[in-house]
Order: sequence, then C-alpha cells, then structure tokens
Amino acid sequence: MISTSRRKLRTIQLKTETDRDCTRGRVSGPCRRYFGGTDRCGCLPVQSSCIMDMKKKKGKGTGLLKGMAIICVVLAFILAVLLIVGRSGRTGRKAASASTSSASVSSAAAMTSAGREAAASNNQESGQIEGEDDAAPADSAALRLTDADIHKGDLILVNPWNAYDFDANADSVDLVNILDNQSVTYPCDKSDFEIARHVLPHLDEMIAACNAAVGTNETSISSAYRSMDYQQNVWNETVANYGEAYARNYVAVPGYSEHHTGLAVDLGRTASDGTAESFTGSANADWINTNSWRYGFIRRYAEDKASITGCSNESWHYRYVGVPHAYFMYANNLCLEEYIEWLRENTSESAPYTITCDLGTWEVYFTQSRNPACPDEEYNVSGNNVDGYVITVKKN
Ligand code: DAL
Ligand code: ZN
Repeated sequence: MISTSRRKLRTIQLKTETDRDCTRGRVSGPCRRYFGGTDRCGCLPVQSSCIMDMKKKKGKGTGLLKGMAIICVVLAFILAVLLIVGRSGRTGRKAASASTSSASVSSAAAMTSAGREAAASNNQESGQIEGEDDAAPADSAALRLTDADIHKGDLILVNPWNAYDFDANADSVDLVNILDNQSVTYPCDKSDFEIARHVLPHLDEMIAACNAAVGTNETSISSAYRSMDYQQNVWNETVANYGEAYARNYVAVPGYSEHHTGLAVDLGRTASDGTAESFTGSANADWINTNSWRYGFIRRYAEDKASITGCSNESWHYRYVGVPHAYFMYANNLCLEEYIEWLRENTSESAPYTITCDLGTWEVYFTQSRNPACPDEEYNVSGNNVDGYVITVKKN
C-alpha cells in the first residue's frame, strides 16, 4: 500500500531527524547515524558533512581528529552501502503495494472506502504508529491497523450492547445531504437528512430499481443519520407518546443507534401529493426485503431475530454493509450479530471464506491481528466494533 510504504519511509526520516545530532556547519555527535540528502535544517549528508568538518579542523592537525575523520568516513561508507541495499529491497515491495492500492481506489463499485480510510487514518496517527512500527513485523506489505479501526467501517456492530464510537469515527465519516446529492429523485421527510457519502450511490440505485419494479415513485426516506441529540429527541418523543416499554423495543438508547453511523436509513412511502403511506406490507417493502442485498443493504431488524438484535421487527430500517456481506446474511438468514459471530468462529487470515453470488466473488475473514498481510487485490477493512477486523478481498 502506498500508505504503508510512505509511513515506513517517514519512519526512517523521523528516526534520522530524532537520532542524529548533526547541526549546520558542524558534526557534534554520532554522525554515523545519518546518511542521505540534506535534512530539514539544511545539513549535508553525513559523509560530506564529516569531510567538511574535517577540512575545517585540518589546520589544527591533531592526530585524534584525523583518526576520527577516517573512522567517520569509513563508517559512513559502510552505512551508505547498507542503506542503499536495504532501500532498494523496500522499494521493490513498495511498488507492488502501490499498484494494489491504486487498483483499490479506481474501483469503488463493490467495495467501500473504509479500508482506505483506515490506511489513511493510520498515516495521520503518526505518533502512535511510529512507535508501533518498531514492534510491527518488518514486512512492509502488512496492513497497519489501530485500536480505533476496530470501531470504524461498514461492518461495525452497533446494538444495545455495543455503543457507536463517535470519537473513533470523528474524522472518517463523511456525511452528505441526501436531497442535495441524490442522483435520482425521491422524497425525504426532512430536507436535512444525511447519509455516508459512499453509501448514497447504492441507496439511489436501490430506490430507483425498487420504484421501477413496483411501478410508482413512492419510495422515500423517513430517517437517516442521527446525532446524539437527534436520537435523544426521538427517544424522548417515543417515551412521551408510547411509553418507555415501547421505546425500548423500537428506539435505541442514544449512543447505541445504527443511525449514528450514517450507514442506516428508514424507508417509507410518500404519495405524489406528499401524503405518507404505510411502508410495512407494501410492494416496496417486499421488493426491498428481497433485493436490498444487491445494493449492499440488509434489513436489520426482523421479527425472528429480535432477541438477538435487541430491537423488534422494523420493516423499514436498512443498514449498509456491502454486497458480499449483505448477500451472505440474506442467503443464510443471519442478522448482523450472528454474522459477526460466524466470521469470528469460522474464518481466519489463513482460512478466508469465499462468498460468491451473481455480482462477484470475495474472500472474507476475521482477524484480531493489527498487521494482517496487505492483499494483492482490491480490498476493504472494517472493524466489527467489538474485538477485531473483517478483511474483504474482491476476487477478479
Ligand atoms: N430503531 C432503531 C433501533 C434505532 O433507533 O436506532
Ligand atoms: Zn431506523
């Protein structure tokens, strides 16, 4: 990956800046540690710098200085040879990783951006990551995942037992206004509804296909992203109108709602005159229940899974997880809780599971390793919001 290689190179750079004592115009410390071009303060490479320094001091002509200079030059030469040999090895692996990464960026149809976000966020978290580099395997083709990455991505489990981590997602979730950015026209109950940017094209496509199949343009959005305050209002209103027992069945306690993720929507039906109609039991609900996986969505709260999800039947609540995962859950009648558990129990980096449907083939596995191998093909990384990561690799 480009990010991994850049970080590795940056680590090398930081180490030279930290370790060496060389300052402009003199060599005061262990100059053997630095070799390369001029650094931030403008110093010359240690080899040249040492020579310059020697020349300045030559007039004094002490044997000690001559000896030091010779040792310095010899050490610098040895280091130069070692660094050049080592760097050429790293460059070879970097080139391979970079091509993988660009393939991933160029094809976003089936895969989400979470892996790239994870990689990007790793790059940004320089303090922690630089420290981790020392402990990480020397293999620069490994992913570098953080504890925060466990709480990010399309497969994070948010339910009454697993809160949404706002802090971990603060910089990585990119919300867009649905009405302002939709590529096909469909109504939203409120004009300020938002959703994760990478999910909107899939939502657009699903609603357009549903409307085409059903023969009306009534599929609408009745809820989307919710902040803590928004969810608190939903909770308060539901308790006030229907009582707390009802609220506990249908409304997540603030902090524990999938709507915080930007990956969930409530679907509805809105007639052309603006009248709200029932979604439950409609042809729209039936079509979406059967076909949502094709667009990467799962129906999140089914009646027969209520004891596992902690939420009663909701025909309208859909959650984006990505095509292979939505397909597998739909085909095997698993809710997200069950799927996360199944991945943990049945897959590993050395034994990924292959998911195949008419939309493609993917390999999927769960890992707790922060440094799984960087896949050679287009891939996606998501935390499960509990204890590890799910790696999804698109097979060509
Ligand atoms: N209705 C779902 C559980 C929510 O409030 O997030
Ligand atoms: Zn909902």
